[in-house]
Amino acid sequence: MPGRRLWIVMLAVASTLALVPSVAQAATTLGAAAGQSGRYFGAAVAAFRLGDPQYSTILDREFSMVTPENEMKWDATEPSRNNFTFGSADQIVSHARSHGQRMRGHTLVWHSQLPGWVSGIGDANTLHSVMNNHINGVMSHYRGQIFAWDVVNEAFADGSGGGLRSSIWTQRFGFTTGWIEEAFRTARAADPAAKLCYNDYNIEDWTAAKTQGVFRMVQDFRSRGVPIDCVGFQSHFGSGGAPSNFQTTLSNFAGLGVDVQLTELDIAQAPPTSYTNTVQACVNVPRCAGITTWGVRDSDSWRSGENPLLFSGGNPKPAYGAVLSVLNAAGGGGDGSPVQVGVLYQLVAQHSGKLADINGGSTAPGAQLIQWSANGGLNQQFDFLDSGGGFFRIRARSSGLVLQVASSSSGADITQQPDSNAASQQWRVVDQGGGFVSLINRQSGLAMDVWSASTADGAHISQFTVTGNANQRFQLQRA
Ligand code: XIL
Repeated sequence: MPGRRLWIVMLAVASTLALVPSVAQAATTLGAAAGQSGRYFGAAVAAFRLGDPQYSTILDREFSMVTPENEMKWDATEPSRNNFTFGSADQIVSHARSHGQRMRGHTLVWHSQLPGWVSGIGDANTLHSVMNNHINGVMSHYRGQIFAWDVVNEAFADGSGGGLRSSIWTQRFGFTTGWIEEAFRTARAADPAAKLCYNDYNIEDWTAAKTQGVFRMVQDFRSRGVPIDCVGFQSHFGSGGAPSNFQTTLSNFAGLGVDVQLTELDIAQAPPTSYTNTVQACVNVPRCAGITTWGVRDSDSWRSGENPLLFSGGNPKPAYGAVLSVLNAAGGGGDGSPVQVGVLYQLVAQHSGKLADINGGSTAPGAQLIQWSANGGLNQQFDFLDSGGGFFRIRARSSGLVLQVASSSSGADITQQPDSNAASQQWRVVDQGGGFVSLINRQSGLAMDVWSASTADGAHISQFTVTGNANQRFQLQRA
């Protein structure tokens, strides 16, 4: 029956096309809107609120990154010496994993929310080993699962001095940045896949002495190869929002070769214009990787009575719409595409949280694309080359070779091959919302797919009939 066969073909084509949104379509959630330009939009999350359906509905619909508000701090994770407790932090991590959200780790070395047994240590040598043991204990528990760690939080003093604050750390180790350097070196070894951030508040104004002090430290660290990847600007603002030179601050830090992130954003009374200007400062800086608000609803905020967040009860506030339109206007590759050429990405499979990976780090043509746990390898990083017409080649950083499907059949392998710009090497990046995309091969019309939705290291990534399932959805995470 030839008529019936034609009908099936038409159905298959129609179901593929239905996944391709029109170019001008605006994203309708914060995570999806930020995802168009490779950024994330996150929230601080409290474990005890996860059971509140109004809270978790907003969280899971809108946010693509999660920071535990208190659950990864020292008093929660090592309440007595070498006794590590991860119950409530694990709850947040597993919630995030099952909703395709990435994690920021907050925070390892801080003077606040520090248990008494640590602040009571009088001897510098003991404190060095206690600090390193804490970093190792917490980071190894979450190894491979954290996008970025706030390794050191709030080490600098307010005011005109531009130096470190007085705390247990400086009182025992001195007013130089050696102990901060030590914390970052320990952290790199503990989880090589995590980005390592310095995080602080009141460093958004470029002219502030505190900002200059942090800048000099990051400049020094970068020049000496101390492993630091990012600077977090907490961004707790009064009703006027960010200082007018915030973008200058962000781009000057980015010029040191680090990513910048807005890590704890909240603005008193949440005026839409203040949110617009603040988010615009990030969007204007290519290395501004994402934004996190410090809570979901006003009722969740640590700044009680100031109503500084984007939701009130179950509803978005006026500032929400303002933020969404700034993120949507930032767009993607300039043509409505969710990828940017010239940016290195990791491709995170939604169902497993694992990364697309060239098997064994091979540089030879024919090596297979698989999924593997994040390990910081260059064979887990890819950039996109524009083939025109909305199609891209996907190039492995480790080899310079591009991903190609072996044939047009469902189930065919994906391997790396020399770039010939053949149709079998071209992929359409289809926005699936929530910060996820699917990748559709030009020649076959089939989707990149983790075989059998396996969550195991080593599972093949091949092409398969388009289903739109989570094993065909990938988050493009800036490497
Ligand atoms: C705050 C939390 O929001 C509160 O629940 C807690 O009682 C105190 O800490 N800078 C930071 C965050 O880095 O960890 C702080 O979070 C807010 C200021």
